[in-house]
Amino acid sequence: MTAEKPLLVVLGATGNQGGSVISHFLSQSPSPYKLRGVTRNPSSPNSIRLVSRGVEMVAGEFDDPSSLDAAFQGATAIFSVTDFWQSFKNPALREIASASGQKISILSRDNEAQQNRNIIDAAAKVDTLERFVYSSLPNTSKLSGGKYSHVYHFDGKAIAEEYGRSTHPKLWEKTNVLYVGYYLENYFDAAGGIFRPKLSKDKSTLILSVAAPLATSPLPMYSSIDDTGLLVDALLQASPGHKIIGAKQWLDLQGFTKVLGQVLGKNVESIEESPSFESLGDPDLIEDLTDMMGWCVEFGFDGGKVDNSVLQQSDLGVPVLLQSVEDWCRKQDWEKWLEVVE
Ligand SMILES: NC(=O)c1ccc[n+]([C@@H]2O[C@H](COP(=O)([O-])OP(=O)(O)OC[C@H]3O[C@@H](n4cnc5c(N)ncnc54)[C@H](OP(=O)(O)O)[C@@H]3O)[C@@H](O)[C@H]2O)c1
Repeated sequence: MTAEKPLLVVLGATGNQGGSVISHFLSQSPSPYKLRGVTRNPSSPNSIRLVSRGVEMVAGEFDDPSSLDAAFQGATAIFSVTDFWQSFKNPALREIASASGQKISILSRDNEAQQNRNIIDAAAKVDTLERFVYSSLPNTSKLSGGKYSHVYHFDGKAIAEEYGRSTHPKLWEKTNVLYVGYYLENYFDAAGGIFRPKLSKDKSTLILSVAAPLATSPLPMYSSIDDTGLLVDALLQASPGHKIIGAKQWLDLQGFTKVLGQVLGKNVESIEESPSFESLGDPDLIEDLTDMMGWCVEFGFDGGKVDNSVLQQSDLGVPVLLQSVEDWCRKQDWEKWLEVVE
């Protein structure tokens, strides 16, 4: 008789971070874990695809504690991640915001914090649990003394992390916290695309239009899809009590553009222009992202300039080999993304 494998329960299994964890372990042959993914919709095409690859997909809703109790049953390890932007875009929450005159960003922060408290409370009840890996971000408002108080998509995670540490010390003895770095995938969405270099008319030169200090402040460049699984694996193996920032490399926007220029064989030019998020339209989003960039320049993405509890992945004591930013750049279809300027 073969022994049962330990069970790893992965939240956000159909998304970037959770999906990366699932793919990482599926790529190991054999996977050291039996994998259970949690989704709001076990019959979605993404869920069905994962089932066909041998993942048990179960229903779970972060707003519904009893669904989390069921999803966590028998877990040896849990990877937890929540998505602030689901709350931010949620029409029902937007209706509450407009009816009550509250900001959608504040409601979303509070909702994400509550979702994480639900996850933490449910994980604390699992007596088979050996390791909890919690995807978090720093409390920007607290660490900046209120100077950057609008980075709501960071703070909800941090508020619940503080709750977990103080309310469930036994769970926290089994916990490692992961701050995932600045997604390189952001280069392909509306907000992060503001920092995407453009191509000169003759296509010889990449032009970055971002002024210092933002253009020269290092960010922890990270691929949510390629890197999360490797880091979570390391955090499952490492002793508990760590908090790490995941990064392929700390690189500023100018440095990234240079790497991309080398990969594409282009010259690089930097224009000193303050980026504006105004084109995004939504005032709450603009306020959040503007504060986030100010925070990153002054305190570091991970708050590392004022919080020495955040370690680098190299401090974990478990080797983590992430592909380089250059390798990541080589894999992307830049032709599709680089706008040519007149
Ligand atoms: N962009 C960045 O640079 C960056 C950096 C660090 C951290 N982050 C954080 O990363 C988070 C997003 O992670 P991601 O990129 O992995 O997200 P994603 O790809 O958008 O996926 C979201 C996942 O969460 C699940 N989900 C959402 N709401 C749920 C709910 N109420 N109950 C149960 N499951 C729910 C979804 O599952 P189903 O749809 O299948 O139910 C999906 O699997 C955000 O909170 C963001 O703040 C982003």
